[in-house]
Amino acid sequence: MAKLFINERNKMGHINPEIYGHFSEHLGRCIYEGLYVGENSDIPNVNGMRKDVVEALKEMQIPVLRWPGGCFADEYHWKDGIGPKEERKKMINTHWGGVVEDNSFGTHEFFELCEQLGCKTYVNGNVGSGTVQEMSEWVEYITFDGVSPMADLRKKNGHEKPWKIDYFGIGNENWGCGGNMTPEYYANLYRRYQTYVRQYHADKPVKKVCGGANGDEYYWTKKVMDTCFEMPQPPAAHGYMDGLSLHYYVVPGVWEHKGSATRFDENDWYKTLKKAVFMKELVERHGAIMDQYDPHKEIGMIVDEWGCWFDVEPGTNPGFLYQQNTMRDALVAGVTLNIFNKHCDRVKMACIAQTVNVLQSVILTEGPKMILTPTYHVFHMYKHHQDADLVESFLEGNKMIGTDQDCQVPFLNESVSVDKDGCVKVTLTNLSVSEDAPVEMSFMSLVPQEITGTILRGEMHACNTFEEPEQVKEENFNAYEVTDGVISFTAPAGSVISFRIR
Ligand code: AHR
Repeated sequence: MAKLFINERNKMGHINPEIYGHFSEHLGRCIYEGLYVGENSDIPNVNGMRKDVVEALKEMQIPVLRWPGGCFADEYHWKDGIGPKEERKKMINTHWGGVVEDNSFGTHEFFELCEQLGCKTYVNGNVGSGTVQEMSEWVEYITFDGVSPMADLRKKNGHEKPWKIDYFGIGNENWGCGGNMTPEYYANLYRRYQTYVRQYHADKPVKKVCGGANGDEYYWTKKVMDTCFEMPQPPAAHGYMDGLSLHYYVVPGVWEHKGSATRFDENDWYKTLKKAVFMKELVERHGAIMDQYDPHKEIGMIVDEWGCWFDVEPGTNPGFLYQQNTMRDALVAGVTLNIFNKHCDRVKMACIAQTVNVLQSVILTEGPKMILTPTYHVFHMYKHHQDADLVESFLEGNKMIGTDQDCQVPFLNESVSVDKDGCVKVTLTNLSVSEDAPVEMSFMSLVPQEITGTILRGEMHACNTFEEPEQVKEENFNAYEVTDGVISFTAPAGSVISFRIR
């Protein structure tokens, strides 16, 4: 029996909604087909955006969307994606499948999409192959309200009013596809490029995200912080950065043979989850380096690419990164989001890769059909944490499980928050393939009166397909008892549970 103690009166930090963010790149069928089908498509759309996908993402409460890449960002020249569509330049998407990119989805379309989604905007600029002028003019085009060449061009292209950029990334993976730079070189470029990301509206600051490390390459964080971290010097309201990114993918195998998304055994299950749990160490160790410069946690850790990366589905374009999504993905998502919640003092945003049809997607499409993946349901179940305060929680009697000594993971994993109305939200995962977990959940002073529970469960390979779209779905969970304020229940093997308690 595990005991979950919750001190709902001890608030430990604020859970920024952006922790539940998403990433959409010009890659495979994420943007084209997945999010955008064009105004003339037979698939129901509003100004080219798929109605079904937009509705599902709104229901999941998508808080922020990152675009246009990824590796694509450092090859993207934004002026190719504005103006009349028939005149837009075509290019080869060299990173992703060598297909023709016709630029029919560009700046105007991205902001239209975010408006429809009601989410914040995260634009990623080009450092690898772009100029300072190009980046500076993009920000001017999007955000400047007065008379200027770029604001005039935007108006000429049909958008009178500026948009708001909530976050702006200065390059992507500049240690790799974004230019193969050393941290010292990138850090100096960062200082220069960010200078020209102008703040045109004091009340709508553009938060600047510096390109961070790949997984456990801690030296990158150290070197970049060394050069780029500056506290704002009055009268300047901003330092050089508001966030530092981190990318980490869960790859159960080796890079050349990552492993199948759907055909795996118990060993692969635990290996994958162990790699997911490693996110805790990454956040803490990169966080400790950031603390040396920024002890008051003024800047955020922005985990703007995370998720499972498996071999592509057989028969699909290897450059499109299309993969299925099972209960294993759901548990990776559940564990990772609990880790982010528990480190919300430092982690201010995270974007799972990628929204539709690419890597650990929340949605898959096939022509006019759309399915929600197990990962979607986890985001839906966890949405109640958005904008709530993390509170203290502790699991007693939790044990390590796995198939062998080297591959052990915690049996249970949880996070707890409380919203402004005093509603307590608990999310809990059982990582075991086969063992159910009896749990007793008690509170500091709350006497539960009203409990809403939901559960996601299924055997380890369970997934949704276009033929059987509802194999894995959220269900009501009422199998609990309340005795003297203590809630007792059994978390089935391989499940994700969420409670809202008043
Ligand atoms: O998400 C796919 C790719 O993974 C991104 O383009 C890149 O940033 C990362 O390596």
